[in-house]
Amino acid sequence: MTGIEHVVTSGTFSLDGGTWEVDNNVWIVGDSSEVLVIDAAHSASTIADAVGDRRVVAVVCTHAHDDHVNSAPALADRFGAPILLHPAEAPLWEMTWPDRRPDRELADGDVLRAGGLELHVLHTPGHSPGSCCLYEPALGVLFSGDTLFHGGPGATGRSFSSFDTIISSIRERLLTLPGTTEVHTGHGDSTSIGAEAPHLEEWIARGS
Ligand SMILES: [Fe+2]
Repeated sequence: MTGIEHVVTSGTFSLDGGTWEVDNNVWIVGDSSEVLVIDAAHSASTIADAVGDRRVVAVVCTHAHDDHVNSAPALADRFGAPILLHPAEAPLWEMTWPDRRPDRELADGDVLRAGGLELHVLHTPGHSPGSCCLYEPALGVLFSGDTLFHGGPGATGRSFSSFDTIISSIRERLLTLPGTTEVHTGHGDSTSIGAEAPHLEEWIARGS
């Protein structure tokens, strides 16, 4: 069995003095023996139950907002797996985990492998400076974190975000993927590149 599993976990997101309730999508990618976990959000035990007795090759963080990384150390320790994060996320990571560092740096162009699948790392800043998306070309699937959602770009109203930068990332790195590419997001419904691409100018006009 090779493929993608989806777990939804619930908790809070805090930044700039506010706290909001959120549901997060956790994606488990691989086969019956080894997996990559994308975004260890809120409940290490829920994610661990879904992983079962498989090897966790890495806990991959699309970015370091606390809702996406608040279970990363617990999950990584439970499975002896490294935590991977783009270095530009350090200021956000340290807000949640001041005494622990990620184990390895994600970089644009990296290829992460598990169970015969390949995740190509795309550095797509804007929602945060080190936000990354993960593209699996054989499956035609993109894991977009909080960079692209069903209905538009990720939020850019808070610290460390830039609307112009996220638009450039989406235009140059994501909308250039095949239109059939399925997009699995960090929150809410999945979408596709072809469904979102026609709306770029609307997003620019509304500015969010
Ligand atoms: Fe986020």
